[in-house]
Amino acid sequence: MNSPSTAPKPVAPSAKAKASVEHPVNNADPKVENKVEAAKRASNYLRGTIAQTLADPTKASFCEDDNIAMKFHGIYQQDDRDNRAARAKQGLDKAYSFMIRICAPGGIVTPAQYLDIDAISQEHANGTLRLTTRQAFQLHGVAKGHLHETMAAINRVLMTTLAACGDVPRNVMASPAPFVSEPHQATRLLAKEMAVALAPKTGAYHEIWVDGERYKHPIAAENELPAPAGDREEEPLYGRQYLPRKFKLGIGIDIDNSIDIYAYDAGLIAVTKDHRVLGYNLVVGGGLGMTHNRPETIARMASPIAFVPVELAVAAVRAVVEIYRDHGERVERRQARIKYLIERWGVERFRGELEQRLGLKLEDPRPTPQPRQLDHIGRHQQGDGREFVGVFVENGRIADTPKARYRSAFLEIIRKHAPGIRLTPMQSILFVDLNKEAADDVERILHTHGVAPLRALSHARRWSMACVALPTCGLALTDAERQLPSLIDDFERELESHGLADVPLTIRMTGCPNGCARPYNADIGLVGRKPGVYHLFLGGGLGGDRLADLYLADVPVEEVIERLRPLLQRFARERTAGESLSDYYRRLYQRPAQRTLLTGREDPTAPLVQLTVSA
Ligand code: HEM
Ligand code: SF4
Repeated sequence: MNSPSTAPKPVAPSAKAKASVEHPVNNADPKVENKVEAAKRASNYLRGTIAQTLADPTKASFCEDDNIAMKFHGIYQQDDRDNRAARAKQGLDKAYSFMIRICAPGGIVTPAQYLDIDAISQEHANGTLRLTTRQAFQLHGVAKGHLHETMAAINRVLMTTLAACGDVPRNVMASPAPFVSEPHQATRLLAKEMAVALAPKTGAYHEIWVDGERYKHPIAAENELPAPAGDREEEPLYGRQYLPRKFKLGIGIDIDNSIDIYAYDAGLIAVTKDHRVLGYNLVVGGGLGMTHNRPETIARMASPIAFVPVELAVAAVRAVVEIYRDHGERVERRQARIKYLIERWGVERFRGELEQRLGLKLEDPRPTPQPRQLDHIGRHQQGDGREFVGVFVENGRIADTPKARYRSAFLEIIRKHAPGIRLTPMQSILFVDLNKEAADDVERILHTHGVAPLRALSHARRWSMACVALPTCGLALTDAERQLPSLIDDFERELESHGLADVPLTIRMTGCPNGCARPYNADIGLVGRKPGVYHLFLGGGLGGDRLADLYLADVPVEEVIERLRPLLQRFARERTAGESLSDYYRRLYQRPAQRTLLTGREDPTAPLVQLTVSA
């Protein structure tokens, strides 16, 4: 376990003072810290030997320690999992390539940036763009020899990959809806402000990827430091070892939980009245990643901590980050997320520590309405006379396929109308700021490219998500993105046959228990166990604020529908008006209404409830 913090924290002198510490001492004892902590400590603020390996054409891959540092630069080293075994047989090394994640706070992207990122993907990656469940872009299949130019090109279009991955606050999420209401505008701006306040300051990124050019990105410009001088302190907030693990953050709105805020390490929920922001409820300690058969690993919904006045929003989150930096676990990496700290401490102690750092007492969280997840798909008024069109992108993959030519359609829309662009937390895209004629034309272009309009989407497909999984993700135990579309075809037929086609339903699939497509708070979550086999979770739902139960363990994918059929039949017969599958399941089997914690080893509930069709 942790050694206690060796860095007593000064209490900020006044409520207005930003909670900041000049020279934090990270809490790990070098003798027992895990290897990632050791690699970060030794990396000289994320430099390692990345530049040398990059310049060496005889090396196809980076060493383990450099890979740890490169994640902070937004880069994952991957290999083609489909061909790994065949290559090994032929005595060949793995076929390495790189995934690059590009941040977009609040999912906001300009049309020029989109066109440039698309061109970069054509020239340097596999020609597709992946929209992620956290409002970022991913490029896959970048060869080592193209890495430097790809990163430089991304920076030239004023986007950044810094802190897209790694043990730092990642892309800051916010509702993508371009409504002109104060809460939507305020949360968008706050997401950007938060990204600026929390960005790492190391000069390594510019040295390696942008050749020391001044950082032009609007987020990062304020974070640039003069050219680094060797070993001196470069990270006043994070220190040499950064955070114990990743830190995911979002800014939500009480009436719009499109970002799924309870799934992240921390979030601020705008408490609104008559379309005004009164302040924010701070929630801390969410996180979905866990490990199969490890009961000590958990998925958890974030806990409400306190109500924070508007002017303290950034300081409060910064203080949360500092508490995590100083008290998060740095030995057992599986226990390192802030959710475990909240479990160890409890909400009261955490709030006390936060109040001490801010130098004031905080109010209790204010009551908010039942959260609703929105996808903003279809055509909507923005409130300023203009419209936006939300387009469902299946599993976030922008490519031209025989079914739908997403890529070509989007390029035509953007070249012709230059709309604002928003990436959504459901892997989809909004084209915004359109006048009526332009919105009509966008719909026409989508139609001519075979992209399904809202009315043609089943509920099962519209709310579905899958993570990338095979062949690129090194952690995948089985498929997700390649598997889900055909499973949804089967679900559509099945639901139709029970007269359930009109019932909103979230179906999400991941290739391993890390939970990147948020399967544990969906109505139906499928979580990879081994090739073609999944755990089936049931009972989350569209609010995003409660976790599902493990319903069936180890289900081969071809049996998923058959094993769910008895429940669907009963649901169709017995549901009350407006009742969702999850609500019905929870009512029928008296499951706790608001489950907020799930462990890596659960007993499946289906056998316990002895489900029978005739019951
Ligand atoms: C805690 C353990 C986790 C680990 C080790 C992990 C690791 C990874 C890796 C290696 C990828 C790259 C896959 C690829 O593009 O080939 C990935 C993708 C991604 N992860 Fe995670 N992840 C974890 C949990 C989560 C959770 C809980 C979320 C969100 C709630 C999340 C959000 C994402 C997103 C948005 C992507 C991009 C691809 C997509 O949208 O599916 N991750 N993750
Ligand atoms: S859930 Fe697992 S398989 Fe899917 S992208 Fe995340 S780490 Fe990879």
